[in-house]
Amino acid sequence: MQNTKDRRLIIVSNRLPVIVKKSLENKYELGHASGGLVTAMIPVLKRNGGVWIGWAGNFAEENIELDELLKNKEKNLNYRYKSVDISLNDYDLYYKGFSNEVLWPLFHNVSVYCNFVTEYYEAFKKVNLKFAKIVMGELIKNDFIWIHDYHLINTGKELRQMGVKNQIAFFLHIPFPPSETFNCIPWRLEIIEAMLSYDLIGFQTKIDKKNFLEVVAFLLDDAVIDQKEEGIAKIITQKGEHKVGVFPISIDYDEFYTQAKSAEVSIMMKEIKKGYPGQKIMLGIDRLDYSKGIPQRLKAYKRLLEKYPRLQKKIKLIQVMVPSREDIIKYANLKSEIEQIVGEINGKFSQPGWIPIQYCYHPLSRIELLAYYRASNMALVTPLKDGMNLVAKEYCAANIDKDGVLILSEFAGASQQFKNDALLVNPFDKEAVVDTMKEALSMKKKEKKKRMQNLQNCVKKFDIYWWVDTFLKAVKM
Ligand code: G6P
Repeated sequence: MQNTKDRRLIIVSNRLPVIVKKSLENKYELGHASGGLVTAMIPVLKRNGGVWIGWAGNFAEENIELDELLKNKEKNLNYRYKSVDISLNDYDLYYKGFSNEVLWPLFHNVSVYCNFVTEYYEAFKKVNLKFAKIVMGELIKNDFIWIHDYHLINTGKELRQMGVKNQIAFFLHIPFPPSETFNCIPWRLEIIEAMLSYDLIGFQTKIDKKNFLEVVAFLLDDAVIDQKEEGIAKIITQKGEHKVGVFPISIDYDEFYTQAKSAEVSIMMKEIKKGYPGQKIMLGIDRLDYSKGIPQRLKAYKRLLEKYPRLQKKIKLIQVMVPSREDIIKYANLKSEIEQIVGEINGKFSQPGWIPIQYCYHPLSRIELLAYYRASNMALVTPLKDGMNLVAKEYCAANIDKDGVLILSEFAGASQQFKNDALLVNPFDKEAVVDTMKEALSMKKKEKKKRMQNLQNCVKKFDIYWWVDTFLKAVKM
């Protein structure tokens, strides 16, 4: 068999790296989506050629000539994008429903948030079959198929049922829950069997891998598990052999570092700092999501201001929230809850010349993001549960002056790599978070520098290119 390194690649993810947008003239056009996965995959696609299959964010009912638009985008490239049509009904039942009201809360360990609706599961299977059929239409011998994330767990199973013998790997970007949480899902056996249609199943952390192996052992009597704490484990079933490994995803360190150093970012950073003279900036940047622990963080900040009144007027929390999944009720409610807490804190503590929280509810450009990272004295990355959390890695890569402190939840995947140099917190323990914020505010320059240097070394060494290479090596092992 050809080396994975040289084989054509079929990448399958719920979202494509291009998004359909309507222009001011009411014309449809394609925009670029950014993110770790795009950074990682494009160089491999350029090298090996292939196809990226996913949803461009439009609805089938809009009847957009997407293939035409994509063709224009693909000129001079040796890889292509192929879009999957999602109807309004699929969006409601497969994306909002099964993906984000069942799998997302379940895998983030909040089974009480799950709506186990049979119709959702049926739609999930139907849409995964649709993805599989599109893969079939593109597939040639020796292609390596790499499927991403929870929305598409079933796609591999559908491909196997269609007789596909190619190697297929799966990477789960979000956590995998402990057995007692996973077992709440009525379709647990089917989901686990679907995950075992892959030759390689990749997780973010050792904990996710351990949880998965425990679920497999509990649900499948005939599975033989050759478990290794480090390295690749093997599961042998009647259907074959499946490798299970840990591959912590990352960012393009050099790109972030270089851009953070640019004149544009430096100027904007100074502007931001000028806006808050004499104040230390504490920064939170999150997608709107209950897994991110934003209300808990705000309440800890409030407590900090109460416990140490002298800090008033001397600190500023900048909380940026990137809109996400707003049409799911839990997310809409969370937005209101957060805005209410921000309002209460600002109402209670504001004084002439000082407002305790600057709150933004919109995405930031890359330049703004980097300027905020650089301008802040600490980052508060305190999710209740998170697969990895790339904000933590970006914050370190952008910390050119090595004077920032990373406060990191022990329940973020990144804590596994950063446990010695970030200040780890239990985000549910308000007093501990308050004390850690205080510790960060008074940390000596030398210590900050040492910790940040170690964090940067780690992100630089285990960057996004390392992630892809390690994953592809594991496939062919
Ligand atoms: C997480 C998931 C991704 C997802 C992203 C944004 O990072 O792991 O698969 O694309 O959130 O969520 P959305 O629902 O907007 O795709």
